[in-house]
Amino acid sequence: MKSPIKRWFAERFDLDALNQPIQKQLKKPLPGHISWFHTLGSMSLFFFVSQVLTGILLLIYYRPTVHDAFESVKYIMTTATMGWLYRQIHAWGANLMIIVVFLHMLRTFITGSYKKPRELTWVFGVLLFFITLVFGFTGYLLPWNQLAYWATTVGTEVAGAVPVVGEPIKILLRGGVAVGGETISRFFVVHVIILPWALFFIILIHIFMVRYQGIATMDPVGSEKKVTAKEGIPFFPDHVLKEGIVFFVLLGVLITLSVLAPFDLGEKADPLKTPHAIKPEWYFLPMYQVLKYFPKLLGIFVVSLAPLFLVIWPFLDRGKERHPLRRPLSMTIGVLVILSLLIFGVLAHFSETRHRFLGKTYEFDIYGIPHPVSESREAGK
Ligand code: HEM
Repeated sequence: MKSPIKRWFAERFDLDALNQPIQKQLKKPLPGHISWFHTLGSMSLFFFVSQVLTGILLLIYYRPTVHDAFESVKYIMTTATMGWLYRQIHAWGANLMIIVVFLHMLRTFITGSYKKPRELTWVFGVLLFFITLVFGFTGYLLPWNQLAYWATTVGTEVAGAVPVVGEPIKILLRGGVAVGGETISRFFVVHVIILPWALFFIILIHIFMVRYQGIATMDPVGSEKKVTAKEGIPFFPDHVLKEGIVFFVLLGVLITLSVLAPFDLGEKADPLKTPHAIKPEWYFLPMYQVLKYFPKLLGIFVVSLAPLFLVIWPFLDRGKERHPLRRPLSMTIGVLVILSLLIFGVLAHFSETRHRFLGKTYEFDIYGIPHPVSESREAGK
């Protein structure tokens, strides 16, 4: 017996025909090796949705001008109802999204899922990763605090070093010679209109391709067997239930971090007060450190090669095996890349700071190399 609402719709639309493709998708079995690591893609989606929702709430009070930006964020954090919570969830969400998207990329790398026929799923994935990073870069400026102002000044300076096109690109990004009101407007438009829609449509394409081609099995390229309902795991309810559990855990993590480790707003941006050792956000630290070791132009060339390699990786690695243990060369390259990201990140973190280790004080130079500080200098610091 149909409910009156269902009947009302059934008299106007062919509900069975509409329902069929949905049922087909829900019943599609997933390969037997599917694990919790296969929820990293939906975790990335969770963060995207969470960022959009908290971003809309932030937009109610945020004002993208030099005069009001800092004060409006302060108002959200101190006065707006639950403002502190959605601002913190947005800030933590941005950081966690980058980690989760990266881990999802790593998972598909380790299981060789980028190989034929899923090369384009990977290419669109890389685009998603870069857009997520640009989200971070543009959003960082919006609170208009000291850290944001100077990190953006340095970040846009890097673009300016490229010959011929660099200077016009820098001016285009900044909307003028220096970072100012024009820069906030531009970053704001990119952050709240261009990037969310770009991410939305590319996620649609990405997930459509994943559903259309199915999750990769561990069989070598060319001998992938079709997953049968008997050997596979049902997408619904088994995998969907797993995703539901993960979403609740993530929500718990976001709220816990927002309460226990809130992000500080810091001081309002002051173009006349240059802070000591300006550093970008943690996810740009490895790139920022690499740039220090090379002459300007060569450095930019080196760090631009990395994204290029990432995009064309499925076309470089033409081996048929997917299992990580049967791909020693790919795995070695992967491990070396992760290690260098960690090493350069740590070097950048320590560079231009002073720290005490085992009772001795060390000053880390811009290359992250520690120099012991003599006791007399330490006393007079
Ligand atoms: C906002 C970012 C992203 C979202 C929302 C997203 C979403 C998803 C989802 C839901 C899946 C299916 C479930 C899973 O495998 O976890 C998936 C699969 C896949 N993703 Fe992503 N993804 C994103 C970024 C990326 C990135 C950065 C890459 C790699 C550069 C990537 C490459 C892949 C590949 C190759 C598959 C197929 C996996 C397989 O068949 O085993 N994705 N993605």
